[in-house]
Amino acid sequence: MKRPSRLLLCLGLLASAACAAPLELLPGPGGRYDLPVEGIQGPGRVMHLSRADLMGLPHGTVDVSGGFGTRVRSARVVFLADLLDALALPPGSDLLLARCSDGYLSVYTFEFIRRYRPFLVLELDGLGPDRWPPPGLAYNPGPNLIGVSDHVVPGVSALRDIGHKGPWGVVSLTVTSMKQSFGGFFQGPWANLGEPARQGRQIWINSCASCHPGPAGVTGGTKSGVPFTLPQGIAAADMKFFRQYVRNPTSLIPGAKMEPHPHYSDTELDQLAAFLGARGP
Ligand code: HEC
Repeated sequence: MKRPSRLLLCLGLLASAACAAPLELLPGPGGRYDLPVEGIQGPGRVMHLSRADLMGLPHGTVDVSGGFGTRVRSARVVFLADLLDALALPPGSDLLLARCSDGYLSVYTFEFIRRYRPFLVLELDGLGPDRWPPPGLAYNPGPNLIGVSDHVVPGVSALRDIGHKGPWGVVSLTVTSMKQSFGGFFQGPWANLGEPARQGRQIWINSCASCHPGPAGVTGGTKSGVPFTLPQGIAAADMKFFRQYVRNPTSLIPGAKMEPHPHYSDTELDQLAAFLGARGP
């Protein structure tokens, strides 16, 4: 394929499936199920993708039986990769964040999005979010729900902490970059990390940041309500406690709300601690 002419025509929208004009976002919310999208027109600026435009994007049907509830079988979805292709992405963007109503945050690199094909669910068994929860589902996953499926990319459900890539109650998306949102983790004490701490940083960004905000200027979900210095302090002071807490919080603190991570190996927990405790070059 002759890339250059296409590149010129598309003004750099290399990854775009078609050379359609980017979707126009609206400055204010029109309808209840319009999707707020931050970061397309500069950091912090929230625009809105209308439900009608969302429904007009290329879509697919995914078998989600057993995924979101026993009786739900099929989902009409828009793949986040197609959504990205339809937006006028700012140069340098490489990260998408999905924020939930309870402060939870899912972090998706564009690389993950293109490889593992997470999708935004538009309808479950033919019902849109205005009619959720669908029959058989005990909770309302709306206004927006994101999922991944072995039916789409075989084996995706076996990835470590894949649960963090399937949030429900999603209230907005943010287009950003690793540099803008997590840049702080690549500077100062974290500028020149050894391999274990680099791995730990990956785990933190991919998983822990869903509920734990970083130090000043570094993104993270607000769900835990715990400042970054707390896990940092615990990893430094008491590795035995840190390990057990991350694997099984309620075994140490009855009523702890953090979800358990029983699948973490000693090596992974040491990597996390090496990252949290990094002192710099
Ligand atoms: C689903 C949300 C969630 C995720 C994901 C999460 N945490 Fe937490 N974390 C919490 C909450 C909530 C607390 C506050 C105490 C509690 O209720 O468990 C907490 C507290 C902690 C504490 C302090 C424990 C104490 O003694 O107060 C540590 C350490 C910690 N988290 C480490 C981690 C690490 C490391 C990861 C990633 C592997 C992680 N957390 C992922 C929600 C989360």
